[in-house]
Amino acid sequence: MSVCVALAMLLSGCAKSPEPPPTASTRGAQLFKERCAPCHPDGGNVINPKKTLHGGVLADNGITTPAGIVARMRKPGPGMTSFDPATIPDTDAHLIAEYILATYR
Ligand code: HEC
Repeated sequence: MSVCVALAMLLSGCAKSPEPPPTASTRGAQLFKERCAPCHPDGGNVINPKKTLHGGVLADNGITTPAGIVARMRKPGPGMTSFDPATIPDTDAHLIAEYILATYR
């Protein structure tokens, strides 16, 4: 075995992080809590109670996919904060959207 290979094996062993990174769903939940829950606690809607985030209500309003939710974040209806990609990048926006669809049925 060459010195290089031995060194590489040693380094890769050391580089292992002790804590696994948060899973996608925890990150989605965390971001939802920070950005959305003030107005949408438990998937509700404190400003417009007809526009909750529960699956059946979303579907009635034409939202059935993560992309549909992300579109609302980019171009919201009256009373909702607008979240541009500089504030919430697409990957994070999708994690939030998937969290909503999985959590509020
Ligand atoms: C300042 C309060 C506020 C915040 C913060 C907020 N929303 Fe909203 N949201 C609203 C209001 C008000 C509406 C209803 C707007 C309308 O009439 O379309 C709404 C509607 C929605 C809808 C459509 C619901 C439906 O049944 O048609 C989605 C999806 C949504 N919000 C997602 C989010 C997400 C995701 C976040 C966080 C990134 C967020 N909202 C943050 C106030 C807020």
